[in-house]
Amino acid sequence: MSCFTRNIIVTGGAGFIGSHAVRLFVNKYPEYRIINVDKLTYAGNLANLKDLENASNYIFVRADICDFNLMNELMTEYNVDGIIHLAAESHVDRSIKDPFTFARTNVLGTLSLLQAAKNTWRGDWENKLFYHVSTDEVYGSLKLDGGLFTETTRYLPHSPYSASKASSDHFVRAYHDTYGMPTLVTNCSNNYGPYQFPEKLIPLFINNIRHEKPLPVYGKGENVRDWLYVEDHVRAIDLIFHQGRVGETYNIGGFNEWRNIDLVRLLVSTVDRILGLKPGTHEYLITHVSDRSGHDLRYAIDSTKLKQELGWEPSLQFVEGLDKTVHWYLTNQEWINRITSGSYRAYYEEMYGNL
Ligand code: NAD
Ligand code: DAU
Repeated sequence: MSCFTRNIIVTGGAGFIGSHAVRLFVNKYPEYRIINVDKLTYAGNLANLKDLENASNYIFVRADICDFNLMNELMTEYNVDGIIHLAAESHVDRSIKDPFTFARTNVLGTLSLLQAAKNTWRGDWENKLFYHVSTDEVYGSLKLDGGLFTETTRYLPHSPYSASKASSDHFVRAYHDTYGMPTLVTNCSNNYGPYQFPEKLIPLFINNIRHEKPLPVYGKGENVRDWLYVEDHVRAIDLIFHQGRVGETYNIGGFNEWRNIDLVRLLVSTVDRILGLKPGTHEYLITHVSDRSGHDLRYAIDSTKLKQELGWEPSLQFVEGLDKTVHWYLTNQEWINRITSGSYRAYYEEMYGNL
């Protein structure tokens, strides 16, 4: 007989957001057992969770969510009553080069987990929950003066990544509507913070500034993103997992829109200041390159529903969050050096080798 009050699988827990979610749940809820199921793709890194290695309520299982038989076994073996599903292929540029991998993990992997949960729970939905972590990219692109994404905005994905996430969201809702499975879906805006893989804008650029390498801004840099500190995102996940209305969708965002070029300038001056240089010293590294195919112009989330129903708001001002983030990358150089010395080199060469 287990002494834990809940047994929760977190998928993708060795990735960026997943590692913050696992840390929050393991530390805040010693009465829960957290089972981190992660395939450890290029983006998964157990170094992100080093501090939890000896936690008695934490288990790591290396597994592919597409392995349906194994997902069934894990559900039974650990008597799982909750799933927080973050595992995914998450980088838009990679999805443009290799859409099949995105369809496999994001669509079929989600379906495999849903079906394993359905098989195991067998219609006994009491105290069960399938929580699916999704993205604002499923809504497509906004005009510069075109309002905000709400929970009822029509899905209109443009990249293979966002198309695969949209499909997975539909499957989750289908399991709720067809079988009655208790589900929740959240769509969040761009996250930033420690442990983000340096293929994404902010960690890529911090690392490039450190090495005095060009900062490849796609197109004119006029695209707009809505940035949220990762710990604010996982605080929202915690709240919604425990208090969200089952079957609902919640948008999570920062009310913090930045044009890429303005963000890059702020990032450069933040890194420069922290390095003890005159802010702006590294602006000469900014290099405009060909635009991303199908590049969405603007994302911006309206998270009023979450605020009104559950009282959630972002806690960190962007300048403060960016400061913390830059400090973290500059003081955790071993973490980034280990990543960038491996297969990352080939990826970087293919993406940015001509700069
Ligand atoms: P990430 O790429 O950093 O991590 C993904 C994790 O999933 C990795 O640990 C990887 O090993 C694991 N994984 C991939 N394929 C797997 C498979 N087949 N089986 C098991 N594990 C597998 O991603 P992230 O940025 O932390 O994003 C996590 C989730 O949040 C994703 O679902 C993403 O769509 C969503 N999301 C991300 C953002 C963002 O800004 N990063 C914003 C909104 C939503
Ligand atoms: O909105 C949520 C999404 O945010 C998540 O669902 C995705 O998983 C996550 O990767 C992120 O997607 P983006 O494509 O917005 O993030 P990325 O960091 O790749 O790019 C941010 C912006 O910066 C985007 O407009 C493209 C631009 N960019 C990015 C890179 C990597 C550049 O100009 N140059 C670059 O080299």
